[in-house]
Formats: sequence, C-alpha cells, structure tokens
Amino acid sequence: MHIFKNKTDLIQFVDGLKSEKKTIGFVPTMGALHQGHASLIVKGLKDNDVVVVSVFVNPTQFDNQDDLEKYPRTLDKDVALLKDISKEKIVVYAPSVDDIYGDNVSSTSFSYDGLEHEMEGRFRDGHFDGVGTIVKRFFEIVRPDRAYFGEKDFQQLMIIKKLVEKYHIPVKVIGCKIYRAKDGLAMSSRNMRLKPNYRMAAPFIYATLKAAKEQFGTKSANKVTEWVKHQFAKHELLELEYFIIADVDTLKTVKRKSNKKTYRAFIAVYADDIRLIDNIALN
Ligand code: PAJ
Repeated sequence: MHIFKNKTDLIQFVDGLKSEKKTIGFVPTMGALHQGHASLIVKGLKDNDVVVVSVFVNPTQFDNQDDLEKYPRTLDKDVALLKDISKEKIVVYAPSVDDIYGDNVSSTSFSYDGLEHEMEGRFRDGHFDGVGTIVKRFFEIVRPDRAYFGEKDFQQLMIIKKLVEKYHIPVKVIGCKIYRAKDGLAMSSRNMRLKPNYRMAAPFIYATLKAAKEQFGTKSANKVTEWVKHQFAKHELLELEYFIIADVDTLKTVKRKSNKKTYRAFIAVYADDIRLIDNIALN
C-alpha cells in the first residue's frame, strides 16, 4: 500500500495516475477510522480505479484546543483497517501539519451563502472556514474525480457542495448514508473516548431522533422541538446543545411546515465532555 507523508510525492503519484487515465476517488478523514469511514471508502472503490484516503487531524477546524489535543490519533491501526479493505487500490495521504500549513496554521474565510451561520457554524466558531481551507487544499493536491462525504456531517456535506460550486472545482461530491452501530449510535471517532456508562446512554440520541421523526408527521416543528428538549432535560447523563428542524436547502430552522419542502432534524449532545452530533431525514 502506498502511504505518502508529503504532498510533493503524492502530487507526483497522482500525475502518474492521471497520465494512465485512472479515475480517482477521494475520502478525506481525520483518522481513528471506523466502519462509517470504511463505508465511504468502499463506495469510492466501486466508482473509481483508485481511492485516496487522507488522514489528517486538521487544527484549523477546532475551536477547542482540548478537543484538538484529545482527538484520537491511531495511524497504524488506520492503515491496518485500510489494508483489510484493499492493499492495491487505496492510497493513504497522512501529512504533517507542516506539510499542509507550513508555518502559517490559519484558515481562509469562506462564504457559503449563509449555510455556515447555522448549527455547527453557530456553535463552533470558525469551524467551516477550517474545513473549507483544508478540503480545498486537498482537492488541489489530490485532484479527484469524485469525493465522498458522510451525511453524518450533513452541514459539512452541503458546505463542500457549495465550495465546489463557488470555486468551480472539477470534482463530483457524493453524499453517503450515516453508518450506525447496532444500537443506533452513529459511528464516530469520538465514540471511542466515551466512558462505558455514556456509551450505554448514547443510543438515546438516535432513538429520540426517530421518535421526533414519527411526531413530525402530525405535530408542528415547534412542538416536536419542545418535546425533544424536555426528553433531554430529564436525562441524567446527556446534555442537549441544540435540536433543530431545518429546511435541507438552506439549513434554516423551519418556522412553518410546507409539504413542498424537505426537512431534516439535527442534534448536538454532550456526553460528559464529548460532543456527539447526528441527524435524520424527516420527510
Ligand atoms: P471525519 O470526522 O474523520 O469524517 C470523515 C468523513 O467520514 C466525513 O465525510 C464524515 O461525514 C464521514 N463519516 C464519519 N462518520 C460517519 C458515519 N457514521 N457514517 C457515514 N459517514 C461518516 O469530517 C471530517 O473528518 C473532517 O471535517 C474532514 C472532512 C476530513 C476535513 O478535515
């Protein structure tokens, strides 16, 4: 398996693939890989000759130093997981912060037509500037035909689609379904940090989303939101940061339901000091 630590070598390798007319899929990750990531990679392998997987904990998208420091870094395990999927068709790019940012570890400011002001943008300062900066840089280095993003981070997926459209980047952005543990918890690199009692409690998040979806058929968005807030207020371990029912096109909180629109519910919850997000299609 090819594992590149610096962009010069990867760029040269990609030049070779391009001259052989090979198609390139790209799955950017921050590592601590799990089956959710694997599902994106498997999809990429179906559509392309080669899949580049980046493993890079991007400092500029963290607004919380502690979260950045505690973010799991497990490259050897990640590579083993990738080798199990395919040794021949997967290429790893695991750069250092220096390879990406040099001595200027900062992000560019982006406008995503307002998508960045909702939810994660509201609660994580500068987050989507950091995401835009790193993903745009990766697109320039990897030059993929297709790039795969999970609906787990639905707002990120929408923002990347907007980035590609605004900067006329020649890549097809493909959204992939949320991969869940058997008990419903959305897979996340952060799950491995949950203490056992919090891990046991965490499926409550998806169970509540499913119940909210059920209620959304007959109740107003406001009523459903109040109900969800009440469920978490009663919960002993999980602390709700936000629950929002939003229009999928604008990500703005719905005021009055329309049957012409598509809605999704979005949630962020603290389990101890670990922040978990999830979402569900409502109609
Ligand atoms: P990371 O959290 O590692 O996620 C990498 C990709 O895997 C994202 O597109 C994310 O949505 C997807 N993913 C994570 N868990 C998933 C699950 N349970 N089901 C389906 N897809 C899942 O998202 C990032 O990294 C970073 O912001 C990044 C895009 C790499 C930029 O730094």
